[in-house]
Amino acid sequence: MKAIVLAGGTGSRLFPSTKAVSKQLLPIYDKPMIYYPLAVVFKAQIKEVLLITTPEDQPAFQRLLADGKQWGVHLQYAIQEQPNGIAEALSIGAEFLAGEDVLLILGDNIFYGEGLQKHLNKAKITLEEISKGTIFAHEVECPQRYGVAVFDEQGEPQFIEEKPQNPQSNFVITGLYCYPNLVVEQATKLTPSTRGELEITDINNYLLKEGLLEVVTFKPGFTWLDTGTHESLLKATQFVHTLEKRHGIKIGCLEEIALSNKWISPHQLLYWAAGFSNSSYGKYLVNKYQNKV
Ligand code: TTP
Repeated sequence: MKAIVLAGGTGSRLFPSTKAVSKQLLPIYDKPMIYYPLAVVFKAQIKEVLLITTPEDQPAFQRLLADGKQWGVHLQYAIQEQPNGIAEALSIGAEFLAGEDVLLILGDNIFYGEGLQKHLNKAKITLEEISKGTIFAHEVECPQRYGVAVFDEQGEPQFIEEKPQNPQSNFVITGLYCYPNLVVEQATKLTPSTRGELEITDINNYLLKEGLLEVVTFKPGFTWLDTGTHESLLKATQFVHTLEKRHGIKIGCLEEIALSNKWISPHQLLYWAAGFSNSSYGKYLVNKYQNKV
């Protein structure tokens, strides 16, 4: 299984902050936003990763993340020329995937909470054993901005409705999609919606119709943050700050996850952390792991 992180887009709701800088490079407290979705990919134990960006922003991402060797992963890059929709990530990534299943995650989504690891493991097993994909829904107060899951009386998902004016549920589809490879061919057949985008909702509805998709709902208490507005960006920063201070942990700490996956040694972790030991992020790593070598 391989992973695609989609980090293009316009970020227009964050203008002027995102006029010259990609949204996914903005900081969420002590690290760039892109670290958080990458952390989910690492937690899913996926080492082959494609990062899709706009043409202008690719060099900045490469400066930040390089080829991923520092975490023991293989990071490749691709460009989305225009924000043609989330589903385009699948056709852009076709060659990279080379027939393998895919974990697609949006570069501005933060997932945190108990059960994430279990959900990721289960989604991978579901794909391996019965070739079914998994998407994740979360209950929100204002579902109108999202793809909304519609369930029947037995609680079975029927279809996903994109940005409905009168939502039939409060469960919206988050930016984490675990798909069988057949979605790649399906993505090439899509035509743009009325808002001019290749909709990931069309892929989800196709899989649902074919009986090839599980819709898993995150429990109340699980945190899913989409950081597309100034308010949500602030909320995400406050969330990470509070948790990290209260518990003395780091969320989205790629070096730490790579170490726990045994992709790098404590020695390698300290070598890389030395490069940013002036920051609280670097200090955390040095303090926590310097006695482990
Ligand atoms: P959005 O938040 O829907 O779009 P955006 O990031 O361009 O922001 P705005 O609406 O403020 O202009 O995108 C969700 C995520 O998907 C985000 O990480 C960007 C990414 N994305 C792409 O990379 N390419 C695309 O074509 C689209 C639609 C989104």
